[in-house]
Amino acid sequence: MTDTTAKQADWIASKVNYEVKHVLDMGFNHGTSTIWWLQRFPNAKVRSIDNVPIPQDIEQVQKLAGDRFEFIEGDTQFVVDEIPTIFDFIYIDTAHDRLTTFRELVAAWSKLKQGGVLAGHDYHYKGDSCRPNWPGDVKTAVDEFCKYMGVRFETDVVDDPTTGVFVIYKDYGKDGAIRATKSSMFLKPTDTPSKFH
Ligand SMILES: C[S@@+](CC[C@H](N)C(=O)[O-])C[C@H]1O[C@@H](n2cnc3c(N)ncnc32)[C@H](O)[C@@H]1O
Repeated sequence: MTDTTAKQADWIASKVNYEVKHVLDMGFNHGTSTIWWLQRFPNAKVRSIDNVPIPQDIEQVQKLAGDRFEFIEGDTQFVVDEIPTIFDFIYIDTAHDRLTTFRELVAAWSKLKQGGVLAGHDYHYKGDSCRPNWPGDVKTAVDEFCKYMGVRFETDVVDDPTTGVFVIYKDYGKDGAIRATKSSMFLKPTDTPSKFH
């Protein structure tokens, strides 16, 4: 598992064919994906969340982006619901386990504008012995979420078969009807994805 690559960021950005003003970037780490979104969406403000209080590369990103960047410290499972913004684009690259990812998808969905793109990293990451805390269950969570919500998504390894990326579209059907009709309001943090099979 590596940080988001430039080609993966390009592939994701190519799926976003509208102006982006508000980005939510879950999982700051070294700020690689944060910088990709600042560069690819030049009129956007990027808010990055991480549960590490002061990530080591934060100053560098703050210098580069000024008030186009905001760092939010906390666990995605709790802080996302508190943000009063509706985002044009949301990116998930955090814990890589099935339950956290599923909860993040649910929380992100309610903060994403209609017509927006919800993307993420490591769809194809299977875990490795060096990182026992990163189980590599992003695919399971994304597949379950999209099946449950009845929404379309795309995935590609792009230039890194060990990681891969995904995009989920919060869009409309051919008849103009909203495709994602089931609301996340029925999901509580204590619910597990397996309930929704
Ligand atoms: C793979 S790194 C993110 C890489 C980053 N997107 C990039 O491209 O450079 C994952 C980050 O997610 C953070 N993280 C993991 N679980 C989290 C959670 N539940 N809430 C907030 N941050 C979390 C970790 O502290 C770590 O910095």
